[in-house]
Order: sequence, then structure tokens, then C-alpha cells
Amino acid sequence: MALFLSSCSSNQPPVKKQASALNASEQLGKALFFDARLSSPAGQSCASCHSPEHGFSHPDSKLATAEGAAKGLFGNRNVPSITYIKFTPEFHKVTEDGESLHVGGFFLDGREKTLEDQATKPMLNPVEMGIASEQDLISKIKESGYEKMFNDIYGKDALKETKKAVQYISQAIADYERSVELAPFSSKYDAYLAGKAQLSQQELQGLKLFEAEDKGNCAACHPSKLDKESGFPPLFTDFTYDNLGVPANKNNPFLNNPKKYNLHGHAYKDNGLGDILKDANENGKFKVSTLRNIALTAPYMHNGVFSTLKEVVSFYNTRDSDKKWAAAEIKQNVNKDELGDLKLSDDEVEAIVAFLKTLTDDYQTQTTH
Ligand code: HEC
Ligand code: HEC
Repeated sequence: MALFLSSCSSNQPPVKKQASALNASEQLGKALFFDARLSSPAGQSCASCHSPEHGFSHPDSKLATAEGAAKGLFGNRNVPSITYIKFTPEFHKVTEDGESLHVGGFFLDGREKTLEDQATKPMLNPVEMGIASEQDLISKIKESGYEKMFNDIYGKDALKETKKAVQYISQAIADYERSVELAPFSSKYDAYLAGKAQLSQQELQGLKLFEAEDKGNCAACHPSKLDKESGFPPLFTDFTYDNLGVPANKNNPFLNNPKKYNLHGHAYKDNGLGDILKDANENGKFKVSTLRNIALTAPYMHNGVFSTLKEVVSFYNTRDSDKKWAAAEIKQNVNKDELGDLKLSDDEVEAIVAFLKTLTDDYQTQTTH
């Protein structure tokens, strides 16, 4: 589904300079983001699941979904990269060519409206950081020595009233998530767009296939071009929702969670956007993922069913023509128009994978090692 970034025009074009120092609230947010003392039991921070070395996603590429601070409890979804998350527009609906589309929002089903709304949810989630209550969170923040930083930034007694304190905690974390550290635009592909690097023959072929409507057609949902009007580099997502017909993942450790945390056991199915909107016409739809840093963030898809990029591209290529692919997790609303039988050769699949690997940040550092 092609949707152009005009819907995000309220965002400023990205800051050009690299690695600028963080301001006070970004620094506070960063400290909180990396602080493993806050979880209950202690030992897990945001960064445990959103690790900078792994495109701010989970470091263990073998795990479909992450274990929370409490051992043996798993989340239901694969941890996404949160790089470039600041460009996600608030959840909204648009009409394009007479068709209604849902766009933006946070989490893979769009259930949180803003980055601030999202920020403290993992802390209070029993299968994530497991903190019992907002009051508990505030006590932990005080015990960990952050009160002065909060007062300096947000004013005297910033942590006194629960509602305000939670708002400031969310604000600081969201500020860090919007900082240049999570949106450096420093991949080989960015250097190529700026005329400062060459893509190899295979990477260039991959880019062409990625964009060609009669070939990969990937850019229909994962836009790859600089937006000349806004000056935005491509984000490789149009923030819409789709059901790709991804197979269920029988190895998702969430399925073995105690009943309290997974009522349906192995029969569990993830309706994504459909459950949020309580609309079966949206069942099985998930937010289009950014492909920036995708080489670092295996496994893939909302349920982590695919372990390699080659497997992902092969799935797009032969979902409908090769019986080896298991049935869709959610059979309704599967997109049959834009994917499923792309007729790409094996070399073409490899070329697309090679192109995807140019989207990893810190290209300069990678090459000067
Ligand atoms: C136990 C692992 C885990 C921890 C800890 C964790 N997250 Fe996440 N995070 C996830 C998963 C899984 C998702 C996707 C969940 C979903 O869609 O329902 C996610 C989604 C997100 C998103 C939304 C991404 C998007 O595309 O909309 C943001 C932002 C985020 N996390 C930030 C944080 C912050 C900030 C913290 C710390 C306060 C944190 N996470 C802690 C696993 C984790
Ligand atoms: C119709 C829209 C659409 C098209 C076309 C499309 N994608 Fe996607 N892509 C999505 C959606 C939606 C997701 C998330 C699906 C999910 O998690 O169930 C996704 C997820 C992915 C992921 C996994 C992301 C992650 O973090 O787990 C990769 C890799 C990917 N796409 C690559 C491609 C490539 C390569 C092509 C072209 C061959 C392509 N996509 C074409 C919509 C699309």
C-alpha cells in the first residue's frame, strides 16, 4: 500500500549533524533506558530488549520473543527495532483512492498514540520489566538517585505527584528515543544517496528489484526514496498496516506461558490491529516495519517466524507458489495483490538481501575497523 510521507509533515526533517551531544532530558532518558535496577526483579532495562548493537532490538536472534524480567515469562511479539521511531506519526486514518487506511501509532498494532504514552508501558508490563505500580516505579527512580536530575529539568518536586512524575519519566525516555542516537542516518545507503559511497553491482541490482513494481515491489510499503519536498531521507516504512499471511510460529515461547499470561495456550493467534479496533476486517494486520538496521534484528515478523533475510524475501517471492510455506496465522485479509508470487530468481532474491544489508547504520565505523 503506497502512502506518502506528507502525513508526517508535522515532523522536522532530520538533523544533519552526527553524534551531537545529548541535552539534559535526553541524557536522563538515556540513563533510564539503560538502567537495569528499575525492573522487578532487577536485571532488565529497555536496552536489554532494545540493544544499540542490534539496531535497538533484541540481542538474541534465536529467540522469537523476549523473556521478561521474571524468568520463564515471555512476551507475545518479536522485539522490533526502535531506530527512527521518532518519525512514526500518531495513529490516524486516511482515505486514499476511496480506501480507508490506518496509519502510525506505537507497538506493532498501533495501540499507543504517542511515544510518551508508550514509554512506561514496558516497565509496568508483567511479562516485561514487571514493576508492580506507578508508585513503585517512582520509588525505584528515587532510590536509584534520579530525583535531582528530574527536579533540575522539570522543576522542584517533579516526582511528588504520581501523575506528573509518570509524565516526566515518559517525557525523558521519549526525548532520548527521539535523539540522534536512534536516528543517525549513517548507513551505506544514506552515504550512497548523499553521493558519498558506491553500491556494489549486486546491491544496485537489489535496489532496482526492491523498487520495481513488477519485481520485488517492496518500496510500495517500504519507501526507499528521498522525499524531495520534505527533505526526509527514506524511512523504509509508510506506517500502514497489512496482513502478509505470515505463518504461525509454533516455536514462539509465549505459547508456553502460564495460562494467566496466555489464555489460549498453543491455539493463540495474534489478530494485531483487528483486536485493537475490534474490527475483523483488520485481523492479521501489523504495522509495516522499518527496514533500517534490518540485518541486525533477526528474527523477523511480528511472531519471529523467520530467522534470516533470505527466508523473508523467499517468502514474499513464493508464498503462493511453493507449498513449503505453512498456512497464514490469520487467514482473513491476506494481501494477495502485492506479494506472494513475485517470480524472482534465486540471484534476484540474493540481490535484494544484499541491498537490505546496506541499511545498517554506522557504515563509516564498520569500514574503518
Ligand atoms: C522484555 C523485552 C522488552 C523490554 C524490556 C522493553 N521492550 Fe520495547 N518492545 C518490546 C516488544 C516485544 C515490542 C513490540 C510489542 C507489541 O507490538 O505489542 C516493543 C515495542 C516498543 C516500542 C514501539 C515500537 C513500534 O514500532 O511502535 C517502543 C517505542 C519501545 N518498545 C520502547 C521501549 C522502552 C522505552 C522500554 C523501557 C521502558 C522498552 N521498550 C522495554 C520488548 C521490550
Ligand atoms: C503490502 C505491503 C508490503 C510489501 C509490498 C512488502 N512488505 Fe515487508 N513488511 C510489511 C509488513 C506489514 C511487515 C510486518 C508484518 C508482520 O510483522 O507480520 C513487513 C515486514 C518486513 C520484514 C521484517 C521486519 C521485521 O522487523 O521483522 C522485512 C525484512 C521485509 N518486510 C522486507 C520486505 C521486502 C524485501 C519486500 C519486497 C520483496 C517487502 N518487504 C514488501 C509490508 C510489506
